[in-house]
Amino acid sequence: MLKYLVLLSPLLVGARGDFVLVERRDSPPPGFSRIGSAPANDVLNLRLALAQGNIEGLHDTVYEISTPGSSRYGQYLTAAEVAQYVSPSAETLSQVNSWLAASDLTASPLTPAGDWISVNMTITQANSLLAADFATFQNEDTNQTVVRTLSYSIPSALKTSVDWVHPTTGFPTASGGGFPTFINKTSGAPVPKAPRAVPDDCRGDTWTLPCILQLYGISSTPAKPAANLFGVSGFGNDFANKRDLKTFLQTYRPDMNPNTTFDLLSVDDGINNQLPAGAGIGGNPDIQWSVGLTSGVPVTFISTGTLPNDLVTEMLDQAHYLLSMDKPPQTILNTDLPGLESQVASPQMAVSLCNAYAQLAARGVSYITQTSIWGAGSVPLPGCQAFDPPFPASCPFVTAVGATEFTTDETEETASTFSGGGFSKFFKRPPYQDAAVEAYLKASNNTHTTAFNASGRALPDVAAMIGVDWIFAGEVIDFLTTPEYSATIFASVVALLTNERIAAGRPGLGFLNPLIYKYGNEAFNDFQTGGSWACAGALPGFNSTKGWDPVTGFGSPSYPKLLEICSKL
Ligand SMILES: *[C@@H]1O[C@H](CO)[C@@H](O)[C@H](O)[C@H]1NC(C)=O
Ligand SMILES: *[C@@H]1O[C@H](CO)[C@@H](O)[C@H](O)[C@H]1NC(C)=O
Ligand SMILES: *[C@@H]1O[C@H](CO)[C@@H](O)[C@H](O)[C@H]1NC(C)=O
Ligand SMILES: *[C@@H]1O[C@H](CO)[C@@H](O)[C@H](O)[C@H]1NC(C)=O
Ligand SMILES: *[C@@H]1O[C@H](CO)[C@@H](O)[C@H](O)[C@H]1NC(C)=O
Ligand SMILES: *[C@@H]1O[C@H](CO)[C@@H](O)[C@H](O)[C@H]1NC(C)=O
Ligand SMILES: *[C@@H]1O[C@H](CO)[C@@H](O)[C@H](O)[C@H]1NC(C)=O
Repeated sequence: MLKYLVLLSPLLVGARGDFVLVERRDSPPPGFSRIGSAPANDVLNLRLALAQGNIEGLHDTVYEISTPGSSRYGQYLTAAEVAQYVSPSAETLSQVNSWLAASDLTASPLTPAGDWISVNMTITQANSLLAADFATFQNEDTNQTVVRTLSYSIPSALKTSVDWVHPTTGFPTASGGGFPTFINKTSGAPVPKAPRAVPDDCRGDTWTLPCILQLYGISSTPAKPAANLFGVSGFGNDFANKRDLKTFLQTYRPDMNPNTTFDLLSVDDGINNQLPAGAGIGGNPDIQWSVGLTSGVPVTFISTGTLPNDLVTEMLDQAHYLLSMDKPPQTILNTDLPGLESQVASPQMAVSLCNAYAQLAARGVSYITQTSIWGAGSVPLPGCQAFDPPFPASCPFVTAVGATEFTTDETEETASTFSGGGFSKFFKRPPYQDAAVEAYLKASNNTHTTAFNASGRALPDVAAMIGVDWIFAGEVIDFLTTPEYSATIFASVVALLTNERIAAGRPGLGFLNPLIYKYGNEAFNDFQTGGSWACAGALPGFNSTKGWDPVTGFGSPSYPKLLEICSKL
C-alpha cells in the first residue's frame, strides 16, 4: 500500500491546495519588523534539506566506532561511507526533481552526499511552490534587512522527502543571541581578597598559560611529528591576529619559537583580516591559547564568511565543508554560540546542524563547543519558567565544556556559577549518558523537575577554567571570563592526546563522549560544591555533585590520567 502511494505521488505534486505546513511563527522575533512585501522578481537562493536515507543507522555507527572496548573502536568512516547513510533515497530525489522541473527549476547539490540542495527562484515562484508569503523585515538595532516568511508548506506528496527549507521562518541569529557571552570583571563588583590558605601566585580571576599547564598537568614538551591537525573555528568576522599571537608566545611560552603560527582554511570566502580593527575577542584568545597549549601540533584557523548571514547556517556551511574534505582536522574547536535553545531560529535547523556534527563524528572528528555564561539558562527571557541550555553544545554529537574558576578567594578549583548546562529540549538523552545522568538525578532527589525535562541530552560533559590572560593589540587582557576559554583549553588537551595516539600509529580520539562517560570518574577533577545560577541570578540553577552533574560535567581534565587511559585504547 505504501509503495503504491509513493509511486503515485509525483502525479499529485502539482495538485493545488494539497500542502502540509512545515514551519510557522506568529510574528517576527523581537527586534524585527515587516517593512513590505519582497519584490516579486528578486531571486531567492533557497537551501532544501532532503530526507537523509538512514540517519539512525549513522548515529548507531557513530556510537559503535567511538566507544572504547567496541570491536570497531577507531574505525572511522570515509566521506563516501558517510554518504551512504545520509544520501537521500532515489525516490526522494525523483520526487523533488520532478516537483522543481514542473516550474522549470533545477537544483545543485550543496554536499557530497546530496542531502542538501540549492535552488534559485523568484519570490513569486517561492511563494507559490511553498505556499509562503515572503516579505522584507528590518532589524531595528542594526537596520539589517532580511527576506523571510512567517510560514511555509510543501506539497503533501513531498512530506517525507523534504525536511525543511532555508531561509524561511528562521531569522538571523547573532552570536550569543544578542546577549553578552563573557563577563567583564572590571565592570562587576570588586572581588574581595580573602587570606590565602594556599599561597599560589597562579590564583586569580584570570590565569596565565604557564599556570594552566601546571593546573592540568599538561606537558610542555613539543608534540611528536604526526599527521594531526587542530582546527580553530572563526565566525562572524572575528579574526586571529598574528602579531598578537607572537607577543603572546613571547610573553607566556618563551620555550616556543615565537614565529610559530597557523594556517588558514577558508569557508564561504572567509578571510583572516590582519588590520588592527579585525582582531577579535574570540579569534585572538582562541588562537593564542590553542597554539600556546599545543606546542608542536599544527593549528589551522577555519574562517567562515558571513555569506549566509546567520550563525547557525554558517556553522552548517562549515560542517559541510569539513565533511567534503578527504582528511578533516581531527580536533575542531568552535567557541561561537548562537544562543540558548529557545533563541535558535528553528528546531529543524538545530537538528540538521547536529546531524552534520554526527557525520563529522563518524569521520573521526572531535568537535568541541563552549556552553554559555548563563548557568542553567533562561537569562534574558521573560517569565523564566524553564531552564534553557545552550546550542550547539546541546547536540549529543559534540563535547560541551562548562566552566570552573580558582580565584584568590578559593583554595582549590571549583565550579563556576556561570557554567552553562542543563537538559536539551531538542535532543533525547543519548545512551552513553544514561548511567551518569540517572545517578545525578537520584542523588539530587530530582529537585526543580518542572524547570527541565530530564530525558533530554544533558550537558556539559566536562569543564575547564573560565578566566585566562591573552593579548589584544599588544596589551594583556586579564579581566574577561567566558566558557569560550574553557572550551579552548579542553580542545587543546584533546589535540595533544590525539597527537600522541596518531604518533603511535593509532587513530585519533574521534567523537569523545563515549570515552568521557566511560572513564569520567577517573580522568577528571571532580567538583562537589557550588552550583550554577539561573534566570540571571534570580534563581539557583543546578548543584555540583559527586560524579557527573549539569554544572561541570565530570570536571576538569587531568592530562596525565587522560594520557594513560588514551595510550591503552
Ligand atoms: C544561484 O545564484 C547564485 C548567484 O546569485 C549562483 O552563484 C548559484 O550558482 C546559483 N545556484 C544555482 C543552483 O543555480
Ligand atoms: C538606522 O537607520 C536610521 C534611520 O536612517 C539611522 O538614524 C540609524 O543611525 C541607523 N542605525 C544603524 C545602526 O545604522
Ligand atoms: C570592561 O569594563 C571596563 C570598565 O567598565 C571598560 O573600561 C572596558 O572597556 C570593558 N571591556 C570590555 C572588553 O568590554
Ligand atoms: C623569527 O622570524 C624572524 C623574521 O623572519 C627571524 O629573524 C628570527 O630569527 C626568527 N626566530 C626564530 C627563533 O626562528
Ligand atoms: C520530555 O522529552 C521527551 C523526549 O526527549 C518527550 O517525549 C516528553 O514528552 C518530554 N516531556 C515533557 C513533559 O515535555
Ligand atoms: C536527597 O535525599 C536524601 C534522603 O532523604 C538525603 O539524605 C540527601 O541529603 C538529599 N540530597 C540532596 C542533594 O538534597
Ligand atoms: C541545590 O541544593 C540546594 C541546597 O541543598 C537545594 O535547595 C536545591 O533544590 C538544589 N538544586 C537542585 C537543582 O537540585
